[in-house]
Amino acid sequence: MSLQLQEWVSLRAFNTFGVDVRAQLFADAHDEQGVRAALLAAAQRELPLLVIGGGSNLLLTRDVEALVLRMASRGIRILGEDRQRVIVEAEAGEPWHPFVLWSLQQGLVGLENLSLIPGTVGAAPMQNIGAYGVELKDVFAGLTALDRQTGELREFSLLECAFAYRDSLFKREAGRWLILRVRFALSRASELHLDYGPVRQRLAEQGISAPTATDVSQAICAIRSEKLPDPAELGNAGSFFKNPLVAPELAERLRAEQAGLVAFPQADGQVKLAAGWLIERAGWKGFREGDAGVHRLQALVLVNYGGATGQQLLGLAQRIQADVLARYGVSLEIEPNVL
Ligand code: EPU
Repeated sequence: MSLQLQEWVSLRAFNTFGVDVRAQLFADAHDEQGVRAALLAAAQRELPLLVIGGGSNLLLTRDVEALVLRMASRGIRILGEDRQRVIVEAEAGEPWHPFVLWSLQQGLVGLENLSLIPGTVGAAPMQNIGAYGVELKDVFAGLTALDRQTGELREFSLLECAFAYRDSLFKREAGRWLILRVRFALSRASELHLDYGPVRQRLAEQGISAPTATDVSQAICAIRSEKLPDPAELGNAGSFFKNPLVAPELAERLRAEQAGLVAFPQADGQVKLAAGWLIERAGWKGFREGDAGVHRLQALVLVNYGGATGQQLLGLAQRIQADVLARYGVSLEIEPNVL
């Protein structure tokens, strides 16, 4: 399919914050050929190329003087199956949650805890999406990316992606790798992960004692829907900050000062704190200034009530960062990509 370039397109519909900025050039890529055509078009015009998926991890603070390429390639296939694993491959432009539902309909287990995460398959490895005790890396079998520097295709194994909490090689080498398709190792009978937070309790409340993967998916959809705003109704990019990793000494001091501190010791000795708890305790939950705000049910989520600019949302985030640092000595790192 040939590349359709459009000039000065509003990106409002292409970022889940619903921020209204424009792209100098915009195109959809339906396949590898489209991606290559876009790279060429951007080079000819001496414009940078910005690749987006669902725009769900993005804060746009001004017009984008670039060719914005939206990955719109589609296709899901089972590549192979043995007694333990079923390898499934999906094109980068596949929307994530429908892909999860497809896998469940095939009787495949592995993606259920990652239900209802906005975004696309191709964006998922960027920040190693995770929820309810499972991260993308736990079900990852490989991916194919285009090296924008050389134009060559490269296959990546799990180790080569250097996945970490909301992090990967692709995030660290931003702008180099363009993810075309991703492979997942699923199974027909592996165990479910029920131990994160409210999952088991929710299933018990529903009277489900031997849950299937679909039951887990439905429970997680219900839990998420209660706490996280639907971007179609209220602009947001999910968690706006990462949960910070702090030294055990700081965690100890905070625990002594702050009754109820939510903290999770990590294998490496560091302690992960619930940023949402700190932000709520600092009084920001439900805060609103103009159309930029902090969600009233989840303090980790910044929201756009309609007309907020990216600058206003970023300004609010910076005030929260400064306040949390002053009160608790904890630096919060912004999770979405800020442009
Ligand atoms: N909490 C508060 N107040 C708040 C928010 C949270 O006290 O306003 C407390 C909760 O009570 C709980 C703890 O903080 O004790 C953790 O809260 P929750 O389980 O809601 O998860 P989170 O740490 O706020 C992370 C991910 C989410 C993911 C959930 C579930 C990050 C940055 N966020 O949020 O991911 O869905 O866990 O696994 O790691 C995203 O990345 O966009 C995202 C939504």
